Amino acid sequence: MSEHHQEPHHGLALGSILGALLAISPTIIGLIVVLAGLLGIGPQAKHDAPVIDNAAIEERIKPVAEVAIAAPIAAPGQGKSGEQVVTAICSACHAVGALGSPKIGDAAAWGPRIAQGYETLVKHAINGIRSMPPRGGSTSLSDEEVAGAVAYMANKAGAHFKAPPSK
Ligand code: HEC
Repeated sequence: MSEHHQEPHHGLALGSILGALLAISPTIIGLIVVLAGLLGIGPQAKHDAPVIDNAAIEERIKPVAEVAIAAPIAAPGQGKSGEQVVTAICSACHAVGALGSPKIGDAAAWGPRIAQGYETLVKHAINGIRSMPPRGGSTSLSDEEVAGAVAYMANKAGAHFKAPPSK
């Protein structure tokens, strides 16, 4: 009687252990797969991230990037000459006539602009006008530095502006 009573109980216990093993085996397999992936040995390890061709992207955005990036060229208090400012900042556009800017040395392009007068040109260079960004995009430039750069560029195209002394 007691044996009969024990057997089903025994079978049940065995069954539930097997059942439990079966139930957690997907978890174990899953863990192994994850671990293998972490160790770089599973099939997932061959799954490379898409290759981003930085050079190609840089090439594509180059004209915009060259125009947009105008690094500060001087610590505050250290005035740069008009030529230095033009070389470092303004020439990014004005050397090549980017965005329709008057090209350095192009008297025909600068003529009507020079006719506006030095003060107006300086004001436009400081505040920006149409596609011309304020201070050529280099906000750390002082008014004097911008004025010096305007004189330098305009004089290259036939003006005789006298830049204020740079501070
Ligand atoms: C991002 C390109 C870019 C940079 C950098 C740039 N300019 Fe210009 N600039 C322009 C464009 C475009 C124009 C023509 C704007 C127009 O008249 O539509 C212009 C026009 C001018 C003019 C003529 C404004 C007028 O009233 O006719 C002056 C002066 C000038 N820029 C000075 C400067 C100086 C000084 C710097 C450097 C500090 C500079 N620019 C940097 C694009 C630029």
